[in-house]
Amino acid sequence: MKRYIIKNEKLVLEETNIPLVKDNEVLVKIKAVSLNYRDLLVTEGRGSWKPTETRVPVSDGAGEVIEIGKLVNSLKKGDRVTSLFAPNWSYGKLEGEKINRTLGGAKYDGVLSEYVVFPENTFCKFPDYLSYKEASTLPVAALTAWNAVIEQSNLKIGDSILLLGTGGVSCFAFQFSKLAGYQIIHTSSSNDKLAIVQSMGAHHTINYKENSNWIEKVLEITKNKGVNQVVDVIGGNHLNESLKCLQSQGIISMIGVMDGTTGTIDTGMVMVKAAKIQGVEVGSTEMYKRMLHAMDVHKIKPIINKVYSFTETLDAFDYLKKGNHFGKICIEF
Ligand SMILES: NC(=O)c1ccc[n+]([C@@H]2O[C@H](COP(=O)([O-])OP(=O)(O)OC[C@H]3O[C@@H](n4cnc5c(N)ncnc54)[C@H](OP(=O)(O)O)[C@@H]3O)[C@@H](O)[C@H]2O)c1
Repeated sequence: MKRYIIKNEKLVLEETNIPLVKDNEVLVKIKAVSLNYRDLLVTEGRGSWKPTETRVPVSDGAGEVIEIGKLVNSLKKGDRVTSLFAPNWSYGKLEGEKINRTLGGAKYDGVLSEYVVFPENTFCKFPDYLSYKEASTLPVAALTAWNAVIEQSNLKIGDSILLLGTGGVSCFAFQFSKLAGYQIIHTSSSNDKLAIVQSMGAHHTINYKENSNWIEKVLEITKNKGVNQVVDVIGGNHLNESLKCLQSQGIISMIGVMDGTTGTIDTGMVMVKAAKIQGVEVGSTEMYKRMLHAMDVHKIKPIINKVYSFTETLDAFDYLKKGNHFGKICIEF
């Protein structure tokens, strides 16, 4: 079988044997994967994302169960499954060891491989209406957005939410916000992308590149109150911008690291606004199942911008790095 590994901060295609299945493990033939911003951090070896040894990258994939170990009882041959980002966080609060094993990161292999073998709890069946390609977009981007917009949110129908940019997480946040009936203010650096979110039902759009006063525009739209929730996929010092856009007692879902993992934060404003800053770390399997159910009921289709073949993997990563995509980038095997 073929797989990509990270060697000296480069992706290299290699030929290797299909791994053997132990009693509690499952062999899956991967049909498609999708890329996340994190996959760039891992492959380029940035900070704590740098792999400790040769590593198969990419956390998110979908495929068919080919073989199961003797002790496996939740899956059978032929099942259509996706990977899970943090398989050991099955349910309940995020605590202790639950987030220790995450796929395609510094310490554990991912799914950019024709076949993968992982413990049974690494996979989850997905609804029939989704293709492998569509399902491959769900484990990180969709679940993170679902966690922020639905699980952690206390918004009611008609409350306002600010979505930043049109990458993978923000597009799913848009779809779940529509489902929940929120008033959506969506920003982007591109007028073409804003035209698309507008055609999909965004209530207000702002080009943050062309408008240096984009925060004032957010305040104008909300009659100077600010929004009830910001889904902050940028992080770092950008948290201050999110705070300025926030209504008193609003919530900032702290998700992104595009502006780094540290910042100088206006703590006075956090206090005066009684702001709630809520970190988001993808989500649990239990949340994932709730999300899949809701998506199935409403037949929500992931927004896929571009699909590459397995041999075009390097081009797919280049495209991700350029940041011109709208929604998700997939690789089909
Ligand atoms: N905490 C978690 O559990 C978790 C989970 C998933 C992702 N993340 C993080 O969340 C971030 C987004 O991930 P992703 O996979 O959705 O990324 P992505 O698909 O690569 O999206 C990047 C998009 O962000 C927008 N953007 C960049 N700078 C911006 C700015 N200053 N203001 C507004 N928008 C800006 C751009 O959209 P436009 O082209 O429209 O301007 C860009 O296309 C990353 O930092 C990722 O590591 C965290």
